[in-house]
Amino acid sequence: MAEVWVLGGTGRTGRGVAAALAGSGVEPVLVGRDEERLRVVAGAAGWRTLALDGVEAMAAAVRAEAPSVVLNTVGPFTRSGPPLVDACLATGSHYVDIANDLAAVPAVLARQAEAERAGCTLVTGAGFGVAATESVVSRLCDGTRRAVLVRTTMLPSLASDGGPVGDALAGTLVEGLPGVPGGGRFAGRRVRDGRLAPASIGGEVRELVTPDGDRVRAGLMPLGELVAAQRASGAASVDCASSEAPSGRARTALRLGAGLLTVAPLRRLAARRLATVRLPVRPAPRAHSWGHAAVTWDDGTTSEGWLRLPDAQVATTAFAAEVCRRLASGGGRPGAFTPVALFGTELATSVGGAYVDADGSTP
Ligand SMILES: NC(=O)c1ccc[n+]([C@@H]2O[C@H](COP(=O)([O-])OP(=O)(O)OC[C@H]3O[C@@H](n4cnc5c(N)ncnc54)[C@H](OP(=O)(O)O)[C@@H]3O)[C@@H](O)[C@H]2O)c1
Repeated sequence: MAEVWVLGGTGRTGRGVAAALAGSGVEPVLVGRDEERLRVVAGAAGWRTLALDGVEAMAAAVRAEAPSVVLNTVGPFTRSGPPLVDACLATGSHYVDIANDLAAVPAVLARQAEAERAGCTLVTGAGFGVAATESVVSRLCDGTRRAVLVRTTMLPSLASDGGPVGDALAGTLVEGLPGVPGGGRFAGRRVRDGRLAPASIGGEVRELVTPDGDRVRAGLMPLGELVAAQRASGAASVDCASSEAPSGRARTALRLGAGLLTVAPLRRLAARRLATVRLPVRPAPRAHSWGHAAVTWDDGTTSEGWLRLPDAQVATTAFAAEVCRRLASGGGRPGAFTPVALFGTELATSVGGAYVDADGSTP
């Protein structure tokens, strides 16, 4: 049976993906840093586990055993992605990650030619972030009209169990922007004239009313979705917003703190501190998570659409598992892709999502 190696197998996403893959004709293998934690997660399911000391050791194991698919849930992806992609290209294993930062997503897409030569598939952004809004943009931009301006908005609804932020998420938050072209380090981005350009993080707040009737405010956030939306639409101008964008005092603190984050030792300290912060226990703020896109066409008219999804973590697990399952069963093609660019807009409905048109109808 085809093996999917789930790197970060003890984490929130890794555990969920392994459970979703089990029984789908694919064998999950849990890969992590700690043997005991892996054994607890594998539990009665009896999944194979591999305890390896960090990403380099995981990449060496991929080279040695050439699994069918490698799922990388170990953020920050700017650090874990390159050695794991190298290992997959060397062995022909397919690579999947759940990145959604503006540094990591383009880095994987840039390896298109290498992936074609190696005959393997690289998929970046196989989570709620990227897939939710990419699905809506791709559905609206079906090639019949020319898009000139796109604004995507992700509205994740996420329950918190009160656990710590963790190394992966903390590293991703702190490391997601240095080195991205088109503006200053730790500053926002948008697309103008087809290129990344400066934008204000949390700026240009707009209120959206979801098809459920919830009013949600969202400001600009520099995410990997920006790249996916531009590729899906071909628009020269793209903005990418999130209901999780910092606002008010958090936005001011970010502006003041951004200068400090350019100093590498302070950045590492900030990531270590943030990893230990416990998130407050809170129920999901809304019944659904949503991806939204508004597309302005060259005749000046605008179209809007929504994708309804469950809890954002549940959606991330479902997207990642489905992409891995399809690749393990030979459903991919060589190259480097975002998930909807590879599998089309039907990917979202296959994981339980529902498209909702601007008039509230569900096609
Ligand atoms: N695109 C999306 O929509 C989306 C959605 C959710 C999450 N994410 C991203 O995905 C990542 C994982 O999220 P999560 O919620 O699943 O995190 P999590 O629960 O903290 O799990 C992270 C996993 O990575 C492992 N890990 C952390 N640092 C490592 C290192 N240096 N070497 C090897 N393993 C390491 C942890 O292992 P230990 O048990 O050894 O600590 C754990 O198994 C985060 O970066 C997050 O930002 C993206």
